[in-house]
Amino acid sequence: MTKLSVKHLLSIKPLTPADIELIFKTSENFKSVINRPIKKVPSMRDVTIANVFFENSTRTRISFELAEKRLSADVINFSASSSSVTKGETLVDTANNIISMKVDMIVMRHPNPGAAEFLSKKVNAIVINAGDGTHEHPTQALLDCFTIQEKFGKVKGLKVAIIGDIIHSRVALSNIFCLKKLGASVRVCGPPTLIPKFIEKLDIDVSYNIDETLNWCDVANVLRIQAERQEIRYFPSLREYSMYYGINKQRLDKIGKKIMIMHPGPINRGIELTSDVADSEHSVILEQVENGVAVRMAVLYLLSPPMV
Ligand code: CP
Repeated sequence: MTKLSVKHLLSIKPLTPADIELIFKTSENFKSVINRPIKKVPSMRDVTIANVFFENSTRTRISFELAEKRLSADVINFSASSSSVTKGETLVDTANNIISMKVDMIVMRHPNPGAAEFLSKKVNAIVINAGDGTHEHPTQALLDCFTIQEKFGKVKGLKVAIIGDIIHSRVALSNIFCLKKLGASVRVCGPPTLIPKFIEKLDIDVSYNIDETLNWCDVANVLRIQAERQEIRYFPSLREYSMYYGINKQRLDKIGKKIMIMHPGPINRGIELTSDVADSEHSVILEQVENGVAVRMAVLYLLSPPMV
């Protein structure tokens, strides 16, 4: 198999395990490329990609841009705050105007769930979802699972806990789909107010007990408390959250085994994760970021339009 079964990457849901394995195999190849002194390959020469960001980003945006440049694609960056969107232009009009300048692929981050799927049905370009509100962040899940596979040599059979602000997280849902397709056991853990009711329908464990969850898992993927999406109070205070659900060295020392700590970033240091854990030998946070470039190169390359 050399092609993905999907035309766009909007969600992890429609990907087959074979698709994910192909992305991982291709990522391994690109990871060796970007560790060479000459980090560029001509694989996407003459393909033009627009990175269209309606929401802030550090990692995803830079990672996609580097991935595109290392594949020799032509790249344009669009930021909603400095565009004609501020004058009232619609998403579809904005995208169609960009595409009319011979753009082949759109990488989009948008605050509204479903925005990438909506766009894929309205425009003549390949669309990659770089995060749509609280819905999905497929490339983050792929890079997270790639990092787990790289560290353990497998994903199947591992116990992975996703901890924290599940209700506002696009990373959680994409990770749940990806981990389950690869055969991991998945558990979400956090205060009941931060765990959505629908999660039980996804055939995963739910726990409100952080210490028991840390004892159970091989990998803890710790999520950010997304204060900017919280219109009501979900817990009494950040101090209380960090006391009951924050991962710190004392908590990890108590469990008496080594677990791998992941975080998609940005980290609220001292809230969901203390610095002595984030910067410890248990943490693979910067390796996740490193792997993100190779995984995004793989996704872009596998979805790219055929050369004529
Ligand atoms: N992990 C992630 O999506 O980070 P950014 O918001 O910085 O892109």
